[in-house]
Amino acid sequence: MKCNTAVYSLFLTLALVSPCTAQSVEVKYTTDIKQIIDAKCIGCHGADSPEHREFKVNKKNYEEKSKGPKMDSYTNLIYFIGWPDSGAVMRRLDDGKNTKEGKPGNMYQYLGSTDEERQKNLASFKQWVGNWNLKRWADVTKEEMNGIKVKY
Ligand code: HEC
Repeated sequence: MKCNTAVYSLFLTLALVSPCTAQSVEVKYTTDIKQIIDAKCIGCHGADSPEHREFKVNKKNYEEKSKGPKMDSYTNLIYFIGWPDSGAVMRRLDDGKNTKEGKPGNMYQYLGSTDEERQKNLASFKQWVGNWNLKRWADVTKEEMNGIKVKY
């Protein structure tokens, strides 16, 4: 290939553009996930919902009121991804592709009102989490944990 000015500038453009596009597709809590949670989950997992420990003690009581544990902040949400409730978000939101029985998790339905919307929001969650692993703390490996991104 003859390296004229056009070829040089093409390579220069690619070199400059690619890191920027990689950054702009990165899914973050503040720019992507919080919006989904606020629209789809906060009614049952908001500030008036119990801490997870409290929820576990009085589970029946909260379930009757359709209240799940509090997931109203970044810190409260990642409790259900990394530790101690490892993989809970992944197990509940999976569409059935990674579950043992092939059934969607019981919170998948809330991701959207159409299959298209549910799939779109699931894709955002998957990208945000990084390593979409459904394992619990007892089974998950250090390497699998290291694959969790959850950018703020
Ligand atoms: C209509 C109310 C409602 C909505 C909307 C809802 N949830 Fe839930 N969620 C619950 C209740 C009640 C429980 C506890 C009962 C159970 O485990 O299924 C729960 C449990 C969970 C759990 C398991 C917590 C644990 O103890 O391990 C996760 C994770 C979860 N929800 C995530 C979500 C996400 C993410 C959304 C939004 C896409 C969402 N939920 C939307 C009511 C809701």
